[in-house]
Amino acid sequence: MSRFVDKLPFFDRRSSPMEEAEEIPRNGLLHMHHHNYPPQQHQHSGVLMPPQLSPPAGASRASITLAQLLKRVNDARSDASSPVSSPTHSHYTIELGASVPGSTASELSEHNMMNSNAGGPLLPFELKFTDLTYSVKQRKKGSFLRRRGTAEPEAPRMKTLLDNISGEAREGEIMAVLGASGSGKSTLIDALANRIVKESLHGSVTLNGESMDSNLLKVISAYVMQDDLLYPMLTVEETLTFAAEFRLPRSLPGKEKRKRVQALIDQLGLRNAANTIIGDEGHRGVSGGERRRVSIGVDIIHDPIVLFLDEPTSGLDSTSAFMVVKVLQRIAQSGSVVVMSIHQPSYRILGLLDRLLFLSRGQTVYYGPPSALPSFFVDFGKPIPDNENPTEFALDLIKELETMPDGARDLVEHNKSWQKRMAPTNNKMTNKHHDSGDNKPAALSLKEAISASISRGKLVSGATDGTAAVHSESNAPAATVSKFANPFWIEMGVLTRRAFINTKRTPEIFAIRLGAVLITGFILATIFWRLDDSPKGVQERLGFFAIAMSTMFYTCSDALPVFLNERYIFLRETAYNAYRRSSYVLSHTVVGFPSLVVLSFAFALTTFFAVGLAGGAEGFFFFVAIVLASFWAGSGFATFLSGVVTNVMLGYPVVVSTLAYFLLFSGFFINRDRIPKYWLWFHYLSLVKYPYEAVMQNEFSDPTRCFVRGVQMFDNTPLAGLPEVLKVRVLRAMSTSLGVDLGTSTCITTGPDFLAQQAVGDLTKWDCLWITIAWGFLFRILFYISLLLGSRNKRR
Ligand SMILES: Nc1ncnc2c1ncn2[C@@H]1O[C@H](COP(=O)(O)OP(=O)(O)O)[C@@H](O)[C@H]1O
Ligand SMILES: [Mg+2]
Repeated sequence: MSRFVDKLPFFDRRSSPMEEAEEIPRNGLLHMHHHNYPPQQHQHSGVLMPPQLSPPAGASRASITLAQLLKRVNDARSDASSPVSSPTHSHYTIELGASVPGSTASELSEHNMMNSNAGGPLLPFELKFTDLTYSVKQRKKGSFLRRRGTAEPEAPRMKTLLDNISGEAREGEIMAVLGASGSGKSTLIDALANRIVKESLHGSVTLNGESMDSNLLKVISAYVMQDDLLYPMLTVEETLTFAAEFRLPRSLPGKEKRKRVQALIDQLGLRNAANTIIGDEGHRGVSGGERRRVSIGVDIIHDPIVLFLDEPTSGLDSTSAFMVVKVLQRIAQSGSVVVMSIHQPSYRILGLLDRLLFLSRGQTVYYGPPSALPSFFVDFGKPIPDNENPTEFALDLIKELETMPDGARDLVEHNKSWQKRMAPTNNKMTNKHHDSGDNKPAALSLKEAISASISRGKLVSGATDGTAAVHSESNAPAATVSKFANPFWIEMGVLTRRAFINTKRTPEIFAIRLGAVLITGFILATIFWRLDDSPKGVQERLGFFAIAMSTMFYTCSDALPVFLNERYIFLRETAYNAYRRSSYVLSHTVVGFPSLVVLSFAFALTTFFAVGLAGGAEGFFFFVAIVLASFWAGSGFATFLSGVVTNVMLGYPVVVSTLAYFLLFSGFFINRDRIPKYWLWFHYLSLVKYPYEAVMQNEFSDPTRCFVRGVQMFDNTPLAGLPEVLKVRVLRAMSTSLGVDLGTSTCITTGPDFLAQQAVGDLTKWDCLWITIAWGFLFRILFYISLLLGSRNKRR
């Protein structure tokens, strides 16, 4: 069987979606529009023609802001008949057959402009990086101890992670960074993707000669991390749809967004898996290769111009890895710059790469096309054996050299001299997509290139009215690119819907919470069954309230992992401004609230009547309200903590001990008037204090209810053991000596008396309720602040 399969070319035996994808234009959005082009316009394709921007009359080209350029996406869409020249110069051929001179104009337009051939040697996008150097302070192991021993402190050693790396990546090509693990691949990708703070990174990264502003970069680029961070319970299609809703501009109709998602599903070869959930350890879902492609899809939904990927193929079998790189090649050919790191490419993958950059300990040991590898190593005196994968050979050789005292220095030097010798020819060699290539391609300015790119349907996002000003370096007029694709309420809606789907697909989580509350309620109900109004019953009521109110808070610690589980998804999504952090906090709250209501009713129904609490219907509803408020404040507290700590294991000890202190200072174990003055502040911070006092007042505020009557006053004293007759006689004696008439049915302590004894009463029960609710809001605001401060995305 394998013999048979091996003979077939890759596409023939792979599932059909890959093939279908060839037919589907990359920019499904503009597909319709391109159909409407007058056919003759395509005949200009050979002519080098700057994209006609049709600026308002009198406006000079310099005054066109980026926002205006971006807005043209819409103009181009709505105004098909306007004389927009077709910027076909920038398209590479995917299917060469489609653009042979003999094909008719209508055939050409059928195939979209994507497939018309590149005529002139014009190069829209060129990502250049020069002399990138990045060092970090290295903390020596045990230096703390040694520093004590030696008199002078050791100067921090610097470790150079990147050492003078230069090169360039071009539209239509895949540039691959290779090297052993630890050679600095991820660091280089981070440096290019503007993920290292400016102060630490030396050298320059420019796109078409302009250094990129980070806000602009966020709009036109994408960064695909090494790990797949996806919601496991969403299907592939849902995942991409949510990504589309976050990143595509609001001005784009929903139908177009759905089209884009469908085009992407085909492009990524995910048609067969479209309705499968992503899955995780506990749920079967899509395969590893498919998940990788979904991750890539999420990041390229807006059709970025520059795409960075960190080891997109690691951990995949060779077929899946090839599929991924094939997809990347197609993305590059649709007009993107693709830069990726790869651990060890297979022979087939090597054939898809256009430029290689080999790293060894942060230094370049080879930079050039794969085809030049053999001659490079022949020059070095170590020719590549015939039937060996050149990259494997190179990596092995580098590894071998690294074990020597000099490291790979010889190779680094050899590369430097080789680069100098090859400089004039290198361009030509790597420029394989351009048929002429006899001279260096003319680069467009960044704005021209972006506008050209946009007018052919690239960069789906960003075509909205601006909110954040983007200043380009070259002192050009400030252009505005909106920071977020959607307004606040749409983000809220989408986030809420996504969280709701997630919740719905994992009903067991809510079931367990409900079960926990019901069981707690049941146990409390049986233990505190029908408490009476005797002094004993009063003490037991107190105990019930204390345990019930603190249980509410303990139950809430399950809010802790909710955010921690999706923390990294959140960080990734906010890193490229998919939505505002505030919308996330709000939707997080909104989605969690209904379950709190259900839990409150469940707890109140199981305990209120069973224990025999006072107040009738009004009392019951107040009890529900205060339980709900406790849940609200408690889950707010746990949520806030989850924003501060990064790990569930760190979170639980903090929650549990803090709640214990809250309970201790709540006023149940020690009354407020007995708490030491210097601890009184903590009593007021105690979250348990307010609901505890609220239920106490709800229970005991009725002055007509009597809790100690006549001889009951001896119940908790040494006289409790006396026979009833004797107790009555003592009562009489007290009555005469006090001069007050004390009968066996005289009320000694009413509810309010009891509250006063307990030092409860500085606040009314309604005050307590509002304060508890306010705590809940405060913690959520703090959570928001912790997200604002905590989500740094750059390396130092
Ligand atoms: N903050 C840091 N401090 C010290 N060394 C670091 C730091 N970050 C990364 N490194 C080191 O830099 C080298 C390159 O890391 P990385 O770029 O992740 O390698 P790769 O992606 O090629 O495996 C590794 O040796 C790593 O240990
Ligand atoms: Mg890495």
